[in-house]
Amino acid sequence: MSDASVERTPSSPGWGETVTMTMEDGIAWVSLNRPSKRNAINPGIVWEMNAVMDALEEDDDCKVMVVTGSGDSFSAGMDLKEYFRAYETAKPVARERLFRANAAWQWRRMMAYPKPTIAMVNGWCFGGAFQFLVACDLAIAAEEATFGLSEINWGIIPAGVVTKAVVDTMSLRDAMYYVMTGETFDGKKASEMRLVNEAVPLDRLKDRTRDLARVLMGKNPFVLRQAKTAVRQARELTWEQAADYLMAKSDQSDHRDPERGRKAGMSQFLDDKSYRPGLGAYRRD
Ligand code: ACO
Repeated sequence: MSDASVERTPSSPGWGETVTMTMEDGIAWVSLNRPSKRNAINPGIVWEMNAVMDALEEDDDCKVMVVTGSGDSFSAGMDLKEYFRAYETAKPVARERLFRANAAWQWRRMMAYPKPTIAMVNGWCFGGAFQFLVACDLAIAAEEATFGLSEINWGIIPAGVVTKAVVDTMSLRDAMYYVMTGETFDGKKASEMRLVNEAVPLDRLKDRTRDLARVLMGKNPFVLRQAKTAVRQARELTWEQAADYLMAKSDQSDHRDPERGRKAGMSQFLDDKSYRPGLGAYRRD
């Protein structure tokens, strides 16, 4: 692969070649689409994922974004040939641009994405794929999926922010074990270790993910965005800082919420007695 591949920028900022997207009743199903290469992440995927995220961000039809892989793979991680080997000879500026764009879609933008995000792990999930797996808000895996931090097997450490993602999500012991051994584990184990929210049989994966997306779509979208931002921020703060930040965030939420959800929810519970906040979302007319 020549420099030209690494230097490729989206000449037409679209997708469809290495990333596909299907919109279905508010859910954007986004698939890495190189099944014959186990959806290994090449520069094409980097540019196309950024393009699809740009588009979905401002598409009012998209309420939830699901990230998955075509065929029998979620993603075999970074493409050893088209990403790693090619960048060794690429011009530094092109290389930096590609790295920035990759970090953007895989975690920087993904963690702060304005729509709720679900990683649907349908099969092979290796190395670099852990970045966007962890950066998505929620994750559902097939019990049959195979995960691995394979970096140690070919003489590198899990870099980018893979190690950070893993130790931020799994226990220190589990993170250390899988980083050091490179052993694979299945979806059930990923769920036990809380790397994903839950694992279901592969033939139920899409239905379960759709059900979860529908639950999210029943909530106030503005408050949902505020809440997920607050979860990420609160992890990094002291208790005192968190108390102050969360009170300010809550005030901001009340002030800016176009639905005035808090008022509607209180009134439907206290005045109309038409719903139970403990058991579901308020009615959004
Ligand atoms: N980079 C580049 N090409 C890849 C990658 C990858 N990460 N993963 C798979 N491919 C390619 C193979 O080279 C092969 O290409 P070819 O048909 O042109 O020969 C094709 O995808 C199919 O791969 P197979 O190995 O034949 O598929 P199989 O189903 O037997 O095995 C598996 C799947 C286990 C995922 C295997 O492909 C593999 O080990 N891939 C590498 C996983 C890995 O270590 N990823 C990198 C992690 S490190 C990081 O991301 C920072």
